[in-house]
Amino acid sequence: MVAARVLGKAEVIVVADPFEAASLAADMIVGDLQAAVRDRGRADWATAGGWTPIGVYKVLREPDRVRQTPWAATHTWFGDERFVPSGHPESNANQFYDLMQTRFPWWTFDPGYRVRIPFDKVHPVLTGHAIGERRPVADCAVWMADELRLAGLPTVDGWPVFDLVFLGMGLDGHVLSVFPGSPAFGATDWAVAVPAPTHGKPRFERVTLNPAVLGVARRLVVVVQGAEKAEIVGRTFGSPFDPLQLPGQLAIRTGATWIIDAPAAAYLR
Ligand code: 6PG
Repeated sequence: MVAARVLGKAEVIVVADPFEAASLAADMIVGDLQAAVRDRGRADWATAGGWTPIGVYKVLREPDRVRQTPWAATHTWFGDERFVPSGHPESNANQFYDLMQTRFPWWTFDPGYRVRIPFDKVHPVLTGHAIGERRPVADCAVWMADELRLAGLPTVDGWPVFDLVFLGMGLDGHVLSVFPGSPAFGATDWAVAVPAPTHGKPRFERVTLNPAVLGVARRLVVVVQGAEKAEIVGRTFGSPFDPLQLPGQLAIRTGATWIIDAPAAAYLR
């Protein structure tokens, strides 16, 4: 660890490299899930997409972390998803299954190092179903919100309360699939279908949790790594509060921990 301090009420921990970031994030995720199960008997977390989670999943699937994590009582949701078929390489759920989930049904032990997570506790966005049925991406957002309501998550101000939302941040400062100027701002649904980003990749229509969810989540863990993100990290923390243009600022709040590697923290004052 290079430095830790509170910036704008968020805890910011600067670490040396992506490996330390992944290890620290995994420990925080495990701790947050443990606390939720201890206090409420279950945990509901929303995980991220893109590259950032890969290193974290590889730590979470290590035997000691597997033993520490209450997967049998943990519901995994996805903060956002690309509108692609289920097995698509750009699917966030596919990435989670590939790295974390045993290939065998139910409680069988995969001799590899995948985690034994009951299939009914992973809630992918039903993009594959929609595409197969030639249904629009908007239907996926409705189905996701319905599934969240059925799961009975507590609400604050009408928004579902996740015990933890794990986030990366894009080069343009987006979190979830809430891009600058996103129509998701002001939406009233718990999940929102948004158009493909006109910049950045991948350019698929998306389903995203409503950004308002970030304001009521019990915990946020944000991991940002790489020198290419230094500018946006500096701008996110150094600019006046304007989440419409800098959505990452929604995660600068009490209860949020930012884990930033040194190259990405280069412009942090
Ligand atoms: C997505 C993610 C998105 C991601 C950022 C960072 O589906 O694209 O949820 O919000 O976290 O774009 O992406 P990287 O981790 O690939 O840099």
